[in-house]
Amino acid sequence: MGGLSMDEAFVQAPEHRPKPSITEADGIPVIDLSPLLDGGEAAVDALAAEVGRASREWGFFVVTRHGVPPGAVARAAEAQRAFFALPPERKAAVARSEAAPMGYYASEHTKNVRDWKEVFDLVPNQPSPPPADGDLVFDNKWPDDIPGFREAIEEYGEAVEELAFKLLELIARSLGLRPDRLHGFFKDDQTTFIRLNHYPPCPSPDLALGVGRHKDAGALTVLYQDDVGGLDVRRRSDGEWVRVRPVPHSFIINVGDIIQVWSNDRYESAEHRVAVNVEKERFSIPFFFNPASSTMVEPLEELVSEGSPARYNPYNWGDFFSTRKNSNFKKLDVENVQITHFRKN
Ligand code: OGA
Ligand code: NI
Repeated sequence: MGGLSMDEAFVQAPEHRPKPSITEADGIPVIDLSPLLDGGEAAVDALAAEVGRASREWGFFVVTRHGVPPGAVARAAEAQRAFFALPPERKAAVARSEAAPMGYYASEHTKNVRDWKEVFDLVPNQPSPPPADGDLVFDNKWPDDIPGFREAIEEYGEAVEELAFKLLELIARSLGLRPDRLHGFFKDDQTTFIRLNHYPPCPSPDLALGVGRHKDAGALTVLYQDDVGGLDVRRRSDGEWVRVRPVPHSFIINVGDIIQVWSNDRYESAEHRVAVNVEKERFSIPFFFNPASSTMVEPLEELVSEGSPARYNPYNWGDFFSTRKNSNFKKLDVENVQITHFRKN
């Protein structure tokens, strides 16, 4: 199934292996976004406060009544299944390369251990010519043998981008900033990308992970998951791994490293991972909402003061992003670039 076969490249060190039983967290906040559609100013402020609390305490939350049409999600999920059901040579026809990192691949490593998954990456709303970042060209490779695939994924990307901007606004409000304070970073040349994930059934779910522990490097992630479950979040209060229970018609939101830096550590990007299982394959679709590659990421000046000085030195997002993308290709002996490298002493 999925063309993966178990070997030592997938084996996690003992301390990182999933335990046979896992807490299903009741604690991860579920937030109803309908005040955005029909609420007054006070209701939206209350909602922003809820988003702020969740971002502070968990770095993760689930949103319902978010305005993304269920049909758009269903069509994207169907397109995703159709793609991964293709025979290997047709997936290979849209494989990514080091210089053109969008497309299919099945050999990503997280922290130098191979992930039990196959993925298809693409950029939504691709401008023409495609944005180039140094030597990298972010052009989409569309499979030509699945009718409606491109339309379904593009429709999904547009709908989820709208949601991502609403969440950005709630986060800005929750930090006491102008609602559109963060929008400028995403206006031109966003480096946002969408990933279709397929986690095939795994003969050794006690040894391997679908995605090894990591934090998302970008600003915000908006994740669709199917009803199988497997996403684990590291709980801040006690460091335990807890599973995010699938909620129908919801998205899982997590703040990434960039929001951690912008907020000067008021919000923290949480560590997470994906467990796999013997019987069931699992599908998910993260939308990685990322700013323009020219963005210098640093604590927002409104959130820095004499009493609360900046905790990070500025770094260039485009450089950070392309370094990460390259290192995911192969097993390295060194840790890849992390925001902690920019932390001031
Ligand atoms: C990721 C990720 C979670 C999932 O791709 O960065 O954390 O449930 N995915 O697939
Ligand atoms: Ni992630």
